Amino acid sequence: MLKAVILIGGPQKGTRFRPLSFEVPKPLFPVAGVPMLQHHIEACAKVPNMKEILLVGFYQPNEELTRFICSAQQEFKILIRYLQEYAALGTGGGIYHFRDQILSGGPEAFFIMNADVCSEFPLPEMLNFQKEHGEPSSFVIMGTTANRKQSMNYGCIVENQQTNEVLHYVEKPSTFVSDIINCGIYLFTPEIFQHIGAVFQKNQQDMLDEQTNGNGWHRAEAIRLEQDIFTALAGQGKLYVYKTPAFWSQIKSAGSAIYASRLYLNQYHKTHPERLFVHTILLLTHTLGPNVSIGTGVTIGAGVRVRESIILHGATLQDHSCVLNCIVGWDSTIGKWARVEGTPSDPNPNDPYAKIDSETLFRDGKLTPSITILGCNVTIPSEVIILNSIVLPHKDLNRSFKNQIIL
Ligand code: GTP
Repeated sequence: MLKAVILIGGPQKGTRFRPLSFEVPKPLFPVAGVPMLQHHIEACAKVPNMKEILLVGFYQPNEELTRFICSAQQEFKILIRYLQEYAALGTGGGIYHFRDQILSGGPEAFFIMNADVCSEFPLPEMLNFQKEHGEPSSFVIMGTTANRKQSMNYGCIVENQQTNEVLHYVEKPSTFVSDIINCGIYLFTPEIFQHIGAVFQKNQQDMLDEQTNGNGWHRAEAIRLEQDIFTALAGQGKLYVYKTPAFWSQIKSAGSAIYASRLYLNQYHKTHPERLFVHTILLLTHTLGPNVSIGTGVTIGAGVRVRESIILHGATLQDHSCVLNCIVGWDSTIGKWARVEGTPSDPNPNDPYAKIDSETLFRDGKLTPSITILGCNVTIPSEVIILNSIVLPHKDLNRSFKNQIIL
């Protein structure tokens, strides 16, 4: 049997997602109309012999997460549990801490997935690849091709082109190493815990040698899969890369959530045409799209124009308002004839290997032009223009703004 573990991180991580992560943990933010994590869960539930999905993170158990888990269990008919780390243990430390839970029932292999990626999740293909490559106990990383410049923002993989064995692994190198990058989706066998365990023991020994104690246990348990495990396993005949031709993107910032929505909406034409139905109805009376996701209970007035945006539940777009490249927060209101607009951060469409840039909020002391985000319960008056701005929750604006964070 198989299992899957989704690394959902914790509260201090979603900083590039503010102010949206104030209201909902980032892994539950809706992408293409459903919580980000649901795409992972749906893909896992389709894999034959998948028995359980474990969410590992350091969020305090909360109502949204519990509600999501309950409804996903019912919808996908699979066991889902949340395992909470006592502190951020890193991408390898969390799974090591919960190894007994992961291994209970005797899975022969398990997937590990970063929550903050969007993908077609070619999990059956990874299983086949594992059977065909290396020994049965080899570990598989899903990889994709990036362009030379952007590859350095990711984990870079040098492979043996005949066997697909990973020969070198360097996380975010400072000079070009390879254009094959790590997608944050892995297939492991239980043997991975021997390798993580060896790092744990070495960390403990190092601390004894340094005579430090204090926060010792945590320091030994904090382990990163990428730097601590993959770099060491490369070239040992154990680690292989499955290069996917399918779509993949990271979801680090709110801007990348709009891009990820577009990738999933394109996929819905094949997989979930019913999820696109709502869009067709709305298209008859308004000019909505392309790439628009509308939450439940949203009110849209006459002559409204929306494109490349996510409108969260309870929002109101009054008559003739125009919303482009935005995320409109829960219960926010945009007045008549107002224009709320952002700058898209999409990858270069002329470069097939371009990825979305993980833009920083500020460049040269100025806010980087980006999508406009309205936090929850924001009111934009009629006939104003809000451009490339981030508006914190519960603001009642009274004029136009451009390139600002409105606190
Ligand atoms: P940067 O944010 O640019 O460093 O990119 P990255 O892809 O290297 O991110 P990182 O390794 O921090 O996170 C990858 C995934 O692992 C995300 O889905 C995180 O939510 C998750 N993650 C990161 N740290 C932890 C951790 O300490 N515990 C758990 N459970 N998950 C984590």
